[in-house]
Amino acid sequence: MTDFDVRYREYLTQFEAYLEEYVDKLQTKPAVLGESMRYSLQSGGKRIRPVLMLACAEVLGVPAEEVLPFALALEMIHTYSLVHDDLPAMDNDDFRRGKPSNHKQFGEANAILAGDALLNEAYAICFAQCMKGEKYALASSFLNECAGMHGMIVGQSADLYFSESDGDVSAEDLFYIYEHKTGKLLLAPVAIASILAGNKYYLPFESFGKLLGRLFQMTDDILDVTASSETLGKTAGKDEKENKLTCVKVYGLESAMVRADMCARDCYGVLEGIDGDVSFLHDLVDYVLHRAN
Ligand code: IPE
Ligand code: IPE
Ligand code: MG
Ligand code: MG
Ligand code: MG
Repeated sequence: MTDFDVRYREYLTQFEAYLEEYVDKLQTKPAVLGESMRYSLQSGGKRIRPVLMLACAEVLGVPAEEVLPFALALEMIHTYSLVHDDLPAMDNDDFRRGKPSNHKQFGEANAILAGDALLNEAYAICFAQCMKGEKYALASSFLNECAGMHGMIVGQSADLYFSESDGDVSAEDLFYIYEHKTGKLLLAPVAIASILAGNKYYLPFESFGKLLGRLFQMTDDILDVTASSETLGKTAGKDEKENKLTCVKVYGLESAMVRADMCARDCYGVLEGIDGDVSFLHDLVDYVLHRAN
């Protein structure tokens, strides 16, 4: 195992322990709501957003305990976005994280409600944080902006809108989709760590989060074409079928891969401007660029 793998696992273990505490208390009547929330929360995604938040917090000298509630709220919002993304009315995907997607397991209505409940629970966590003082309220508000109607949700709306249009494809529209549907939830962990550090390195961190979000969706689009469903844990080759506006559609596969490489280099460039041990963040860019799933 490389140093990077060891550290990723450490952050992951720290986050999973915190998530476990939450999930242990997750009881509903009828039980199916809690079960479907737990099913998607515990189905073992990469947890890159919480890991990224913990790693940025460490660079900035913010204790892990300070960011963990936000990391949990963010992962809950991310999970709800996936549950809804897989619904027949959206991407209609039967597999997620190597298992039947939530609506395949619990039915569409329960999947919609599980997503709704995950989102509401995320804000319950944030409201409790707001009581602690201004910077916690600012961090909560930032998460809300990233997830909301001018953030991930409008990105999902744009993704659907452009998949229904048969007009010219443009890089501008592609990057609009990227910035919102994926970029905002990857900017959130980086920016929230900085907000909790009293805005330390805010501008370079913000640039880093935005670029990493772009890279993340580029590789997601590329993997949809190059990887198998088994490796991805979700159905491969769906983007073309659903007429999605992806970097592969706009540039072609080879050029898209070159552009992903260039985007990774931009990420490294931003990291050079940050004083402190950013080696893990550097390796994380490499991981996002070369990931298998
Ligand atoms: C998938 O996100 C949705 C996108 C934003 C591309 P992830 O690739 O982070 O999914 P998990 O959490 O690891 O399953
Ligand atoms: C999903 O993008 C982004 C969000 C869920 C916000 P995709 O539709 O490309 O994600 P996958 O490929 O289904 O994971
Ligand atoms: Mg989608
Ligand atoms: Mg999808
Ligand atoms: Mg995708």
